[in-house]
Amino acid sequence: MLNKFSRYVCQNCGYETSQYFGRCNNCKEWNSIIEEKKSTLSKKNIIKQTKKSKLFTEIKLQEISRIKTGFNEFDRVLGGGLVNGSIILLGGEPGIGKSTLVLQAAGKISLSHNVLYITAEESLEQVKIRWDRLNQGNSELKVFAENNLSLIIDEIESSKPTVAIIDSIQALNNSDLESASGSVSQVRSCSSELQKYAKDNNIALLIIGHVTKDGTLAGPKTLEHLVDVVLNFEGDQIATHRLLRGIKNRFGATFELGIFEMLETGLNEIKNPSSNFTCQENIAGVATTITVEGTRSFAVDIQSLVNKSFYTNPKRATTGLNINRLHQIIAVIEKHVDLKLYEFDCYVATAGGFEINDPSSDLCIAISIISSLINKKPIKDCAFIGELGLNGQLRKTNNLKSKVEECIRLGYRKMLIPKNNSEIVMKFKNYISLIEIENIKGAVNIALKN
Ligand code: TYD
Ligand code: MG
Repeated sequence: MLNKFSRYVCQNCGYETSQYFGRCNNCKEWNSIIEEKKSTLSKKNIIKQTKKSKLFTEIKLQEISRIKTGFNEFDRVLGGGLVNGSIILLGGEPGIGKSTLVLQAAGKISLSHNVLYITAEESLEQVKIRWDRLNQGNSELKVFAENNLSLIIDEIESSKPTVAIIDSIQALNNSDLESASGSVSQVRSCSSELQKYAKDNNIALLIIGHVTKDGTLAGPKTLEHLVDVVLNFEGDQIATHRLLRGIKNRFGATFELGIFEMLETGLNEIKNPSSNFTCQENIAGVATTITVEGTRSFAVDIQSLVNKSFYTNPKRATTGLNINRLHQIIAVIEKHVDLKLYEFDCYVATAGGFEINDPSSDLCIAISIISSLINKKPIKDCAFIGELGLNGQLRKTNNLKSKVEECIRLGYRKMLIPKNNSEIVMKFKNYISLIEIENIKGAVNIALKN
């Protein structure tokens, strides 16, 4: 029977029907339709206008007050710290260290603020074991183990924290809904209720969410729209370094990066990432580039292993780099340096598997491949910057100045950079020798001439 007070709305595309379907007629998504109750009162009668439109000149800005997390790396990704009354979503694969990061930060914040850590996944004893392992000592941090949404809101109401942490949103349960914890409707309803409560009461709310296998936060990305800040905690569970990436930030720069390492005693911030991602030794097959992540530049080694292939199709594999970029760079080398790689397997990896998307690392990748192929070391104390065009030309790169500055800080003596950067060459000529290069062939002649 049709219910005149309900409508059924696809949560994927917004298609509306008066009847429930298992599959949306419009976008063909399964189980995306949910019932939404219509309001029976006319909005016009009940909502009085209390706000008026304003001119920009009339709007007064208040200083945003921020709460420091005790980790400089975390604060930088947040844009300077947690903003009062903001909602932050911290995503990441299970086991990557989200609870550890947040518990360490909570311990530090609780030294000066009222913090409530709500654990819906673990018992109080489990959290205490982790706490002792992290050697956090005494603190005023309050912990509450519960997964029922209304009990959690009651607890937040009574403890009145400045910062509340939910670990994790997928374990929460709103008993008004019949679906299981972790389902899209549960995740969505729990987060919107919590968000509303936190906004009304000026509580900074940090929500942990597990990411699904395809890399999206569970609840088809819906949470990302609700919150002010989306952070992703990534890394390889075997390697120790962990990256905290800003995906969205209403209070700061996005794509900012914080780097940590996971030790026996918890997470430790890495203040000088260049030292972690370079070996500073001169070896055949290894070359160094400078990559920019967020507002920071740092050096990363790229290593290649090029071996005679025994397969009909030679093997190409990458770690930390897109495989298609490798194919493209190999094609450019074959065509423009006239080195044939079709009989060689080619393995290219960044130090520590650190993911590099900066196209200006192309030249460095090419030099490391050729260096391994001909078994010759690249010139000493040199970094390589430049995006390779398909015609073998080196293209202009962004943030060259900050890359050069990082190189100087690290004590490199030379840098191969794309041409038409004479201003930068002049500016830094007393500190580093910047060699302007036109194309890949020119770069190889200089980099591998020794
Ligand atoms: P955890 O914070 O529980 O991950 P998440 O909340 O993202 O699921 O971290 C779990 C992993 O971190 C676990 O494999 C053990 C490791 N770990 C350390 O190496 N050192 C530590 O001090 C802690 C607390 C955890
Ligand atoms: Mg956890």
